[in-house]
Amino acid sequence: MSAFARDDQGRLCAGGMPLGDIAASHGSPLYVYSGDGIRDDYRRFAAAVAPVDGAVHFALKANSALGVIGLLARHGAGADIVSGGEMARALAAGIPAEKIVFSGVGKSAEEIGAALDAGIGQINAESPQEVEAISQIAAARGVQAPVALRVNVDVAPKTHAKISTGQRSTKFGVSTSQNEAAELYREMAADPHIRPAGLAVHIGSQIMELDPFERAYSALLSFGTALRDEGLEVPVLDLGGGIGVDYQHGTPTDFTAYGELVSRLFADSGFRLGFEPGRSIVANNGVLLTRVIYVKDGDNKRFAIVDAAMNDLLRPTLYEAHHDIQPVGPEGPIEGPADIVGPVCETGDYLGLDRMMPSLAAGDCLAVMSAGAYGAVMASNYNTRPPAGEVMVLDGDVHILRRRRDVAELLAEEIIPDFG
Ligand code: LLP
Repeated sequence: MSAFARDDQGRLCAGGMPLGDIAASHGSPLYVYSGDGIRDDYRRFAAAVAPVDGAVHFALKANSALGVIGLLARHGAGADIVSGGEMARALAAGIPAEKIVFSGVGKSAEEIGAALDAGIGQINAESPQEVEAISQIAAARGVQAPVALRVNVDVAPKTHAKISTGQRSTKFGVSTSQNEAAELYREMAADPHIRPAGLAVHIGSQIMELDPFERAYSALLSFGTALRDEGLEVPVLDLGGGIGVDYQHGTPTDFTAYGELVSRLFADSGFRLGFEPGRSIVANNGVLLTRVIYVKDGDNKRFAIVDAAMNDLLRPTLYEAHHDIQPVGPEGPIEGPADIVGPVCETGDYLGLDRMMPSLAAGDCLAVMSAGAYGAVMASNYNTRPPAGEVMVLDGDVHILRRRRDVAELLAEEIIPDFG
């Protein structure tokens, strides 16, 4: 069942609570997450991959609100992180260090040192230079770093170019094609400061078909098996994230087919598996609530100018991403097309274009759907607009996760030099 549904009076609700009421008490723009939905989707993912020996590391980059990851931690999730900042969040939310995987192409010396000091479970290295850096930092501390090698198996994920990571032309991973990755793995295995932890792939995000996963995972499996046949330790195959979600209708993701694919490929392989789902756990469990400030007539359509903007939700601007937009009140008859736009001074500042909408008036509250992933985490202060606050509905209560900052707080972060 969808995390957001209309009640018998036609009001859009989260966990039975009308979103209009939540906006009235907590202000707008406001991210509202369904904690019940996040918990249930995490459980459904974990159940789908339960037949294999695996660990689930939620990709914090999709939504790193402490309240969200704290909830996932309560239900057993580990974390996939890409910065020292995300590591601090994971630890603060109660995710044990050994359940943390550190991904990313450019970890700094400070970040690697902090990860080793914290005792995190796995560092996914992406280049010979990075392996060397990790080795030196581990040597200086007299420890062995658990390092998996992220490989590039040259598979096109059939998704948006800006979130495709699987092809050789991208900056990600070490190629398996020219023996480069195998040679590096052998060096890792011979390095006294490195404990080879296995191999990782992540070919992209918002992938709607299983076929790219199948091709990438098969390539990873044969590469890992070849290394094992040489006598090398390859404990884990980390399969990354990337499962796409339905942005048109918000239908919950069915993880069954993915689970079956993984079971079919890896059930008897003897590898432990790692999973890094992000979007598929949170996207359809969040909305961005926004209020109409003005309705302005354009040539053939209306502009609904709302109080959320590209600084709150960048996806439409950056990826031409589609997010369904619905009035939170009972839906009236469609009046015609409208562009739902923010107050930022750029034509690219919109949340939705040419949407068939009912009559709209100043003060109406709209829900931008499927905004639980890559929404709040990508917000900025552009135009000195404090980004939206965040709340979570869980078990019938609304919890504030992060208040919207005010302008005074933004200004207080800055320093005017003494100009004499
Ligand atoms: N693991 C690694 C190494 C990743 O780079 C990513 C996402 C994930 C896991 C999680 O992938 P997911 O399950 O969420 O697809 N800002 C973009 C998405 C960027 C994804 C980057 N990497 C968007 O708004 O669509």
